Amino acid sequence: MTPLEHKISQLDPDRMPVHVAMIMDGNGRWAKSKGFVRSDGHAEGVSTVHRVTKLSSDLGVKYLTLYAFSTENWNRPQEEVDTLMYLIGWAIERELPELLANNVKINLLGDIERIPEDARKRLFFARNETAHCTGLQLNMCLSYSSRWEITEAARKLASLAAEGKLDPADINEQTISDNLSTAGMPDPDLLIRTGGEYRISNYLLWQIAYSELYFTNALWPDFSDEDYVDAILDFQNRERRFGKTSDQVRNNN
Ligand code: IPE
Ligand code: IPE
Ligand code: MG
Repeated sequence: MTPLEHKISQLDPDRMPVHVAMIMDGNGRWAKSKGFVRSDGHAEGVSTVHRVTKLSSDLGVKYLTLYAFSTENWNRPQEEVDTLMYLIGWAIERELPELLANNVKINLLGDIERIPEDARKRLFFARNETAHCTGLQLNMCLSYSSRWEITEAARKLASLAAEGKLDPADINEQTISDNLSTAGMPDPDLLIRTGGEYRISNYLLWQIAYSELYFTNALWPDFSDEDYVDAILDFQNRERRFGKTSDQVRNNN
């Protein structure tokens, strides 16, 4: 048994997170520490995306939501933005055969119209090709931010109300959820942030209301399969109370 297999054998299959979200942070620092340029860190980060996707599939995680590019990341130097956009288009095309072989369905979350045409076409192609897949749902958050998403939802609901198609009194939490990019998906059970920062950076603010948060110092290119399983093991040792008392949770009432 390899060390990874040993760790996996410690997982409780009945308590696997259904939905895992990740903030993939630390590419730039990884590159800098090795004397490389920041973009080399992003290129290396693609292999981690490959690995966590495969492991999520193998472990039976149903939804994997990855923060790949935020609304705020548009403010980075143009050269870095260009490289990231190129890498995203290149990576999705290269990964497509294996995603299909593993029955992985790609969803795109965010203001995708802002993505340059070349990368956008490849992303749409991958989404169409995998539309029938029934295994892992891989949500790629691109040009995404939670405040953007919530603002969009508010605008949609206000338009419906203005057209007389929606009574404001009927708006409830479900209505809001149904108008976010994650409509129809369960909220993340576990949110992992790599790179040692303790913040959320405008990610899934609505959806993580009751998610378990896990922060690791591992920089994204270094985030190993063992690190991922460690995060799930940590998650499985927590008690999710959703506002109730510990006794209530244990007695299931
Ligand atoms: C995360 O790594 C990738 C993106 C935000 C696109 P960073 O590029 O933020 O790496 P650090 O935080 O500067 O090390
Ligand atoms: C968050 O990382 C966004 C992504 C991982 C895509 P950042 O590196 O952009 O976050 P901040 O700026 O340090 O909060
Ligand atoms: Mg960062």
